[in-house]
Amino acid sequence: MISKQTIDKIFSTIRVEEIVGEYVQLKRAGSNFKGLSPFHDEKSPSFVVSPSKQIWKDFSTGKGGTAISFLMEIENFTYPEALRHAAKKYGIEIEEDQREFSEEAKNAQSERDILYKIHEIANEYFQNILWENEEGRSIGLSYFRERELKDEIIKKFQLGYSPEKKNAFTEFALNKGYSKEILEKSGLSIFPENSPSGIDRFRERVMFPIHSFSGRVLGFGARILKNNIKTAKYLNSPETEIYHKSNVLYGLNQSKQAISRKNICLLVEGYMDVISLHLSGIENVVASSGTSLTTEQIKLIKRLTENVTILFDGDNAGIKASFRSIDMLLTEGMNIRVLLFPEGDDPDSFARKHPQEYVEKFIENEAMDFIDFKAEILLKEAGNDPIKKAEAIRNIVKSVGFVQNALKREVYLKEVSNKFGLSEQSLFNELDIQKQITQNQTPKNLPKENIQPKLEIVPESVEQVDPIMFDLLKQENNLVNLMLNFGDVVLHRENEENEKYDITVIEEILHHFEEENYEFQLELNKIIIDSIKEGIQNEELRKGNFFVTFMDENITSKVVDAIMPLNDLENWASRNIFPPNYGDKISSQVEGDILIHKFRYIDYLIKKIGEDLPNQMNNETQYFESIRKITLLKQASMKLSEILGYSPIKGVYVNR
Ligand code: UTP
Ligand code: MN
Repeated sequence: MISKQTIDKIFSTIRVEEIVGEYVQLKRAGSNFKGLSPFHDEKSPSFVVSPSKQIWKDFSTGKGGTAISFLMEIENFTYPEALRHAAKKYGIEIEEDQREFSEEAKNAQSERDILYKIHEIANEYFQNILWENEEGRSIGLSYFRERELKDEIIKKFQLGYSPEKKNAFTEFALNKGYSKEILEKSGLSIFPENSPSGIDRFRERVMFPIHSFSGRVLGFGARILKNNIKTAKYLNSPETEIYHKSNVLYGLNQSKQAISRKNICLLVEGYMDVISLHLSGIENVVASSGTSLTTEQIKLIKRLTENVTILFDGDNAGIKASFRSIDMLLTEGMNIRVLLFPEGDDPDSFARKHPQEYVEKFIENEAMDFIDFKAEILLKEAGNDPIKKAEAIRNIVKSVGFVQNALKREVYLKEVSNKFGLSEQSLFNELDIQKQITQNQTPKNLPKENIQPKLEIVPESVEQVDPIMFDLLKQENNLVNLMLNFGDVVLHRENEENEKYDITVIEEILHHFEEENYEFQLELNKIIIDSIKEGIQNEELRKGNFFVTFMDENITSKVVDAIMPLNDLENWASRNIFPPNYGDKISSQVEGDILIHKFRYIDYLIKKIGEDLPNQMNNETQYFESIRKITLLKQASMKLSEILGYSPIKGVYVNR
């Protein structure tokens, strides 16, 4: 455990711009730095680092935080791993606070450390044999070259070769001082009674090291090269203290950044599939390596993305077994698509046959959503048998039932309804029945989709002084916030003459401000709105990202906070998937927020005019004019409160 003093020291020493700078090319922008998001493919920079605040924010993904949280995001370090990494970089010595560990725990930790170490040694050894040893080169390396792997990719995946000699590695490791006991525990050696000098588990095989998230070698997969021998093609490390195959995905370490950046993970079956795809430039791919997918593995992916495309061999007999993986992915809240390669091809062979762009396009265009995929497989099987067909549909609806997000579930049910020409109601009923059958699933009260913007930068003093002003400022912020977040969303409206027209969020809200002749209460909002207006004159819609990258720091940090956490809808939109009420929700939110703002503004005006009344006592015309205005405003307020469903207006501000 890292001591508190060390943690403080780390935080006071490290510089966010330096740590981020190793991953992102940063350019100065005023007092900030900006660069291209490392978590998302983009052309214009939306990633901002503030040296003065020592924070970063990524507008394309909504992530943000400190240098340490950046390391956690990008390297998928745990908190202590990130701290250690940073400490190392800045030469800070780590003081361990060991009081909390029992003797036993300390020993266990050091045993794990030795297991990690011996795997590191073994990994170097097998690579060394592959590149330097005659047997390694003539058998191992030439095998990889036959499979058209470039040296660069062989090195990237740290592939190796285990020689034919019965105990080559065991001997090497014993000579290095590792005990039989630890060698046996590592799964790399076996010591049968009749063979005291030990036997290597892996012999005459090409070696695929299996890495943890952060790149430590946990075990190996090893492929046999002779095909006349009746033994498993791939031999894998057994479960050990450090290798639990259900917790590991092959290729994750090499692919994690691309998965994050592309915001989608390709899921394949085999070692070679991962490697061949990397070879052809497609780097967002992991393999479950022959096991069926586990919840832990899905959680690993979910740290990087919620989008998964499963790639299947064209002649895969286990496709139906994959249905379980689909349901599990759905249960974990993932969005899935499925791709079947042409008969006879697996991702490996396909990637080697075609250029990168073709493979990418193929995956992009041919992947089906899980409904189409299941429908294709199950309906083909059902043929014209109506009972089997009904069963197939029930099977698909069952999968939809695993979708945790109510909004998405509805979208999928709609799709099933359209696809099979069934009423949505009957599908909902079916879903309910299935829910009752399998009571163990979804908790009833899932949190509601929340698209309420978060910005509430209102000076604290105001809150104390005047609730009416406070409400108005809050609502002013809400509207500006909507413009920053969803400014370019097009709303479909109808005017009083029942004519339909389209208008952007920015235009509609601006129009409201102008109609009300509204005076901004917050200077920053005024600056933002003026700039948005200027943009419109140049036929340019300026929303959030514009201000992040072009304006001064005050504006930036306001906008940063305003547009930070809105992720879900934006993610959907960026992938061109629109839930049915995507537009509707924004649309009704804009409409509602404008009305509320109007309401607050009227309150404010009533109060302001009311406060001025005593000064008008000796000017009767002006006084009665003010009273008349207040009356009209109150009528308008009543009307609005009816529309908004508010209870009758609270305060009366005429102080006579
Ligand atoms: P495949 O049999 O499809 O092998 O197994 P592959 O990946 O196409 O291998 P190559 O192209 O012949 O080299 C898919 C995955 O299942 C696991 C491995 O992870 C393999 O990559 N597997 C397969 C085993 O663990 N043991 C086996 O005996 C076979
Ligand atoms: Mn293969």
